[in-house]
Amino acid sequence: MTTATPVVDRPAAEPNLTATAGLADRIARDPEAFRVLSGDRPTGPLHLGHYLGTLANRVRLQNIGVPTVVVIADYQVITDRSDPGPLADRVRTLVAEYLAAGLDPERTVIFPHSAVPTLNQLMVPFLALVTDAELRRNPTVKAEALASRRPLGGLLLTYPVHQAADILGSGGTVVPIGRDQLPHLETARLIARRFNERYGLVFTLPEPLLTGTPNLLGTDGAKMSKTRGNTIGLGDTADRTAAIVRGAQTDANRHITFEPATRPQVANLLSVIGELTEQDPRDVAADIGDRGAAELKRRATEAINDRLAPLRRRRTDLLADPGYLTGVLVDGTARATALTADVLNRVRAAMGMDYFAGP
Ligand code: TRP
Repeated sequence: MTTATPVVDRPAAEPNLTATAGLADRIARDPEAFRVLSGDRPTGPLHLGHYLGTLANRVRLQNIGVPTVVVIADYQVITDRSDPGPLADRVRTLVAEYLAAGLDPERTVIFPHSAVPTLNQLMVPFLALVTDAELRRNPTVKAEALASRRPLGGLLLTYPVHQAADILGSGGTVVPIGRDQLPHLETARLIARRFNERYGLVFTLPEPLLTGTPNLLGTDGAKMSKTRGNTIGLGDTADRTAAIVRGAQTDANRHITFEPATRPQVANLLSVIGELTEQDPRDVAADIGDRGAAELKRRATEAINDRLAPLRRRRTDLLADPGYLTGVLVDGTARATALTADVLNRVRAAMGMDYFAGP
């Protein structure tokens, strides 16, 4: 078979962040025309960074009627470590946290990607559409490779392609993510574009959706992440939350102002309060004024604990019913299997790989 359109080897474009606002409007006008796809690695319990960066957005989108799919990226656990860890436990906790945060298993498909082989099958044609150089310049992959202190493994290098299979294979068009995931979204868009150029129009280019805090800092001023141990867990108690926030770094200037570039830690706490209480962080800063970091932290603690209290109660209740949580996965896997088979059939047809009907 000859290739109709040559595949252009252009570098991954800078993600267009301003598209986000327009996207929110388009979704609000016709929610059912989109499909939300997002996911998490089951490497431990979720924290405020996940909640504010993507989970709250998924729930909001689900609630305005956008079909929503959430993938538990268990294969992605072994991108930067060899031991998958206690998956059964972690995946159950993840499901409990999703439901506690407001994802509704009736409306939203929740499934582990290892249970849906169709997605892995997409990895083969997708790998043929990217170059080694493109994969190597992904800044998130580079950072993760460095942090893992191991030689760059084949899966770490190519997991953005596997993630593209999650997204495109589930028919995802809107991807609520934190800023660190934007390079992966660019890879998914690149693959979709090249596939369409080479084989005919199959994929809609997925678009990222960022929240107001796509980049939450941990209590030490570095990115909030489980591996750094600087997180506020969704399942942490109110007291522990207070203690963690009290220990958060700020700066020596008593007068509180919102200046993300020069006062990142103070701005981070202001953003958290702003996002959780639906206020402009500048107004929050003006309101605190000379009352300093202690008042800033008191308000942050209150905003976090107020928002998370009902979630934490539901989380505890859900964790007491592991049979129910497993049932959610069984049901989600069945629905994801049907959804992804449909996409794979279209991919195979476009590629001429459906040349016999099979046994
Ligand atoms: N890589 C994502 C993370 O570490 C998890 C993930 C897997 C994901 N598949 C996805 C996110 C698809 C968005 C879409 O957080």
